[in-house]
Amino acid sequence: MKILGIETSCDDTGVAIYDTDDGLLVNLLYSQIKTHQEYGGVVPELAARDHLRKTMPLVDAALQEAGLDGRELDAIAYTKGPGLAGALLAGSGVAKGLAYGWGIPAIGIHHMEGHLLAPMLEDNKPAFPFVALLVSGGHTLLADVQGIGEYTILGQSIDDAVGEAFDKTAKMLGLGYPGGPILQKTAKKGKPDRFKFPRPMTNRPGLDFSFSGLKTFALTCKQKLEADDVLDEQAVADVAYAFQEAAVDTLKIKCERALQQTGNKRLVIAGGVSANQRLREILTDVMKQVNGEVFYPRLEFCTDNGAMIAYAGAMRFSEQDQELGFSVKPRWSIDELDAVRKTPS
Ligand code: KG4
Ligand code: ZN
Repeated sequence: MKILGIETSCDDTGVAIYDTDDGLLVNLLYSQIKTHQEYGGVVPELAARDHLRKTMPLVDAALQEAGLDGRELDAIAYTKGPGLAGALLAGSGVAKGLAYGWGIPAIGIHHMEGHLLAPMLEDNKPAFPFVALLVSGGHTLLADVQGIGEYTILGQSIDDAVGEAFDKTAKMLGLGYPGGPILQKTAKKGKPDRFKFPRPMTNRPGLDFSFSGLKTFALTCKQKLEADDVLDEQAVADVAYAFQEAAVDTLKIKCERALQQTGNKRLVIAGGVSANQRLREILTDVMKQVNGEVFYPRLEFCTDNGAMIAYAGAMRFSEQDQELGFSVKPRWSIDELDAVRKTPS
C-alpha cells in the first residue's frame, strides 16, 4: 500500500510517500524560514499562502522521484490538526482535491500522533507500551502509549510549550528565528554556573509543565545585564546555556516521574525539540541508569515532515476514510483519537 503524506500545520510544507512493503520512498520538505525570518516568528497568513504555492509542486516532485503516477497511490494522508487554521486548510484542500480526482481515500491525521509515530520509521522501533514525551513548538506532553490511538495524557504544559519557550527566549536574546536550533548552538559557548534558572513545577507532585516562567527569568537576567552594562556575546551565551539546562532538566525530572508512575522502561521522545542534543544526551543517560531504552527519530523526522503523516496514514488506512468537505481541527487533543489494532509495519 502506497500512501502520500501532506503536512502543512505550521511553517514547513512536507510531502512524502510511504510504502507499507518498501518503507519510505521519498520525503520532501520546503521550509518557510526565509518567509518568516524578518518578522521574528511565524506569520499565519503568510504561512497559509506559502503552503498553497508549494504543496502541489512538492506532490508532483515526490511522485516523479518515486516514479509513480497519482493513480498508483492507495490513499492520501494530510494533517487535519492541531495547527494554524489557514495552513491546515491549504494542505487539506490539496489532499482532498487529489483524493477525489484519483478516487482514493483522504485520511485526516492528528499532527501530534504523526510526531509520536515518527520513531517507527526507524529500523529500531519502540515496542508498545511506552511513555512518550512529545515536545514541539505548540505542545509539551507526556503520554502513556499502549498502542496506536491508545494514548492517555499523563501531563502537559499549562502555558507555553517548551519549543515556544526556546523560540521566545531566543528572540528576546536577539538570536533570531527559528529559536530552538540557534539557542542550542549559542548555549554551547555558554559557561555553566553563571546563572541558575528554576525548574518549574518540579517541587510538587504531578506531571504537568509550565515553561513561561523560564522565558521571563531569561528576560530578567537580560535586563539586569543591560542595567550593569555587561550584556555582551558571552553573557548571552551564558543565559542561553542556563535556560537550556533548566528546560532540559525539567523535562528529565518529569520523564523520570512518568516512567516510575507507569512502571515503563521504554521512553520515546518526538517533536521538534527532540532534535535538541542536550535533551537526547540527558535522557539517554537516564534510560541507561534504569536499564531502559530511549527512542527518538533521526533529526529530519523530529521537526515537521511529510513522512510521519504518510506513516500515520498507513496505520489508520481503511476503505471508509473518504470524507469530503473541508473540516480541519486547529485545536485537537491527542487523547480523543480512536484506537487502531494494528502492528506497526
Ligand atoms: O515539531 P515542530 O517542527 O513544529 C511544531 O509542531 O511545533 O517543532 C518546532 C519547535 C520549534 O519551537 C523549534 O524551536 C523547536 O521545535 N526546535 C528545537 C530544536 N530544533 C527545533 N528546540 C530546541 N533545540 C533544537 N535543536
Ligand atoms: Zn510538529
